[in-house]
Amino acid sequence: MALKKDPKQIQEMFSRIAPGYDRLNHILSLRKDFKWRAFAAEKIKHLAPKNPPFILDACTGTADLAVTVARHNPSYAIIGIDYSERMLRIARRKIERLDVRGRIFLVRADLTRLPLKNSACAASTVAFGIRNLEEPRKGISEMRRITARNGVTAILEFTNPKNRLMNRLYYIYLTKILPVLGNFLSGSKAYSYLSNSILAFSTEQELVNMLSKSGYGRTRIFDLDFDIVKLIVGFKM
Ligand SMILES: C[S@@+](CC[C@H](N)C(=O)[O-])C[C@H]1O[C@@H](n2cnc3c(N)ncnc32)[C@H](O)[C@@H]1O
Repeated sequence: MALKKDPKQIQEMFSRIAPGYDRLNHILSLRKDFKWRAFAAEKIKHLAPKNPPFILDACTGTADLAVTVARHNPSYAIIGIDYSERMLRIARRKIERLDVRGRIFLVRADLTRLPLKNSACAASTVAFGIRNLEEPRKGISEMRRITARNGVTAILEFTNPKNRLMNRLYYIYLTKILPVLGNFLSGSKAYSYLSNSILAFSTEQELVNMLSKSGYGRTRIFDLDFDIVKLIVGFKM
C-alpha cells in the first residue's frame, strides 16, 4: 500500500502534535519506548568506534533517543537534527533540565540534506523517523555519508511481525486502537497518518536492501517485543 508523503504537510503535522508527543508516545507504547531506545543506545555503545567523538540522531523530535544515547555513551557529543522547530523547542527545554545538557546540540535540518561533513560521526541513529521520508533511501544515504568508516547506523522502526497471530493483533491495534486513542488524546488526525504510515512502510528486508544499496557492507537485525519493533544496524566498511 503506497502512502503519499508531502514533506511540508508531514512537517506541519509533527509541529502540531509536538506538545503532547512524549506523553502519547509513552501511553500508546505502554511505556515500551523507553526500553526500545535504551536497547539502541546500548548497541551503539558496543558497536560504534571511539572516534570521531560525535553521534548524529536524525529525526530527533523531542530528543528522547538523543538523551538516551548520550547517557549510555558519555564520551560522545550528540547532534540531534529535526526539521520541526516546534519539536526542537520542546527538546531544548527538556535537555536544559537534564544531566546531559551541554552534550547534545540541536540543529534544525532536513535528513536528506544534512549540514555535516563526510564521515563526521562515529554513529548515526534514527528512531521512528525514516518511514516519514518521501524517499527513505535518500535519508539513509545521507546518514551513511556523514558516518565514519567502521562506524554504524542504527534504525529503530516498526515493522509487521512475521508471526501470524501477532501480526493479526498488531493489525487490530494499528487500525482500531492507535488512531482512535491517538486522535482523541491529541485532538488531531495525525495518529491516523501515523498508523497508516506504519502499515504502508517497508518490511525489514526492504530496509536491509536500502542499507545495502546505500553502500553499507553488512547489516544486523534485532527483533524487539515480539518482532513489532526492529533495530536494524548497518555497518559502514
Ligand atoms: C515519529 S517522530 C520520532 C521522534 C523521535 N526520534 C522519537 O523516537 O520519538 C518523527 C520525527 O521526524 C521528523 N522528521 C520527519 N521527516 C524529517 C526529515 N526529512 N528531516 C528531519 N526531520 C524529519 C519529524 O519532525 C518528527 O519530529
